[in-house]
Amino acid sequence: MTARALITGVVGQDGSYLAEHLLSKGYIVRGITRRASYPHTQRIDHLFAMYDDRDPECPFRVTYADLTDSSSLQNVLLDFQPTEVYNLAAQSHVGISFDTGESTLDINAIGPFRLLDSIRRVCGPDVRFYQASSSEMFGASPPPQSELTPFLPQSPYGAAKAAAYYLTRMHRVAYGMFAANGILFNHESPRRGLNFVTRKITYTIARIIAGDVDRIELGNLDAKRDWGFSGDYVDAIWRILQHTEADDFVVATGETHTVREFVAHAFSILGLDWEDFVSVTDRFKRPAEVPALLGDASKARRLLGWQPKVGFAELCQMMLESDLAARGHTLDEARVQAKSLRPSVPRVRRK
Ligand SMILES: NC(=O)c1ccc[n+]([C@@H]2O[C@H](COP(=O)([O-])OP(=O)(O)OC[C@H]3O[C@@H](n4cnc5c(N)ncnc54)[C@H](OP(=O)(O)O)[C@@H]3O)[C@@H](O)[C@H]2O)c1
Repeated sequence: MTARALITGVVGQDGSYLAEHLLSKGYIVRGITRRASYPHTQRIDHLFAMYDDRDPECPFRVTYADLTDSSSLQNVLLDFQPTEVYNLAAQSHVGISFDTGESTLDINAIGPFRLLDSIRRVCGPDVRFYQASSSEMFGASPPPQSELTPFLPQSPYGAAKAAAYYLTRMHRVAYGMFAANGILFNHESPRRGLNFVTRKITYTIARIIAGDVDRIELGNLDAKRDWGFSGDYVDAIWRILQHTEADDFVVATGETHTVREFVAHAFSILGLDWEDFVSVTDRFKRPAEVPALLGDASKARRLLGWQPKVGFAELCQMMLESDLAARGHTLDEARVQAKSLRPSVPRVRRK
């Protein structure tokens, strides 16, 4: 029987890479997206162009549904009859979760419950379920963090993800469902949302080169993160659902870097000193910070045979090159342009 994957959050960063990954393996893929006032399918428009959804045999379709609407989830489950469900949909921004705590909890904690409960009632226990859990659940727990590290979430986002993690395990234990958690550390790509710090850095550098802006404003430069490439991580996500039994896995590179190191490296690719273009503001600081994340993914390496391919420097350059290309610059052209830039952040404003 052909595997049939339902992906929530298909228009997001990971959803788009996972859809590509599963289609390349011969899956029939159904994505769900929620209604927005303006189309935001840029990350999957190339898939719409590849597959003609007027064809009854088309392997890729997208349906409207919402994690806050059980009936919409039940409709799509009944109609599509998936063999695997990947729950990637979330309000995925930690900082914004402090401003939108209630809706973050609704989407990120009750949402997975609605989906698990609907799968149990509509499809039964044979469907395999993946929950997009997060290293933010570890919060203030010191690094390195593994599957055995206690959760100490520092944000509504982290607390909601921890609730969803336990609800996933609960469905595994109580109802015998194949329900697994991937505890993914930060992962980025040229498709990362513009308000996440890595993409904000590479996108704004491309704007500085284009002459649109003269600096980047950042918050906490000391935060340490374990940054991998989303394209590598969707392979781990798939492997988690192919494992012989439902289980929980940390997915990480095992390397940690500060935000300062990321921004310094991105500017250095163009021969620039980051301190000439970065100002620090308290505006982006959070009520509670997660100081350091560093994942121990030895269980995933051992049991799933997974390991990341793209390292920190390559990831940073890939994102910068993509943002420069979107503004019509090659890396070499940007390096030439960079030589004519004057520092925009006066020494006195540096912290
Ligand atoms: N990227 C990371 O570093 C990382 C690390 C650990 C865990 N995760 C988790 O992994 C998942 C994928 O991350 P990502 O980076 O791909 O995030 P993303 O780009 O923000 O994608 C999340 C998707 O969820 C959709 N969504 C939000 N609320 C929804 C709702 N009520 N109903 C249906 N869809 C909804 C969003 O749609 P809209 O575009 O309409 O908002 C978006 O397409 C998320 O659950 C995230 O929390 C990510």
